[in-house]
Amino acid sequence: MVSPQKTFMNIAVLGTGAVGKLIAARLMSLGHDVTIGTRSPAATLARTDSRSLSFLQWLHVQPHLKLESYAHAAAGAEIIFNCTAGQGSLEALELAGTDNLNGKILIDLANPLDFSNGMPPILNPVNEDSLGEQIQRAFPEVHVVKALNTMNAEIMVDPAKISGDHAVFIAGNNEEAKESVRYLLMGFGWKSDYIFDLGDITAARSTEMLLPLWLRLSGRLGTMRFNFSVVR
Ligand SMILES: NC(=O)c1ccc[n+]([C@@H]2O[C@H](COP(=O)([O-])OP(=O)(O)OC[C@H]3O[C@@H](n4cnc5c(N)ncnc54)[C@H](OP(=O)(O)O)[C@@H]3O)[C@@H](O)[C@H]2O)c1
Repeated sequence: MVSPQKTFMNIAVLGTGAVGKLIAARLMSLGHDVTIGTRSPAATLARTDSRSLSFLQWLHVQPHLKLESYAHAAAGAEIIFNCTAGQGSLEALELAGTDNLNGKILIDLANPLDFSNGMPPILNPVNEDSLGEQIQRAFPEVHVVKALNTMNAEIMVDPAKISGDHAVFIAGNNEEAKESVRYLLMGFGWKSDYIFDLGDITAARSTEMLLPLWLRLSGRLGTMRFNFSVVR
């Protein structure tokens, strides 16, 4: 496993949505070597659905960022972010390949939102299971750390975007992996005292179950720029 304090790493960001792009760009700005993973690089490059920039235009403003298949991105990485849609995450990780993932840290920030019955989405799984646990069971030799899934992506990579002390939660079975993730989060600007380790990967249930509250609050506040705070 990669050393917790290693400064620059080869990192794969699986996912080409808003979250994958923001995480990848932030990691690049911190000096890491980043490859973004997708099902089909050609299809992603041809995508013109973005409100602002097409994926190709966005890639052009990130000169050193590479775009590869999930498998190629994961193969070259020391640490991997899962930024895929929750209902497709297991499929995405299967495509990445067990051999390319084994022994590595996988930071899972996906939420198992099921939109099949429209809005608001429901959680699937929920209560007695979580996406984080499903991933850990499917890939027992991967060090899954659930993190960052309880806030908007802009806040994940730059917590100073909102004032005050606010919280990020981590959960996972491997202490060394969580230590590495803590360092990465501090690189994003998170204060150590506000990184709350909730314990083993079953705690992913609790952070995923914050999503219905997050969605409702976002609607009421009329913004996505907020986060949860823990006070004692
Ligand atoms: N938006 C936020 O601020 C926010 C905050 C917290 C957590 N999250 C979580 O972060 C994740 C990413 O969110 P997002 O809004 O950036 O993007 P998204 O639209 O939820 O997901 C896009 C990515 O998922 C992949 N994908 C979708 N279905 C797939 C399937 N069946 N098999 C393999 N890959 C599949 C896509 O692959 P291709 O590249 O091949 O198209 C794409 O890379 C989600 O799980 C979301 O719940 C989002």
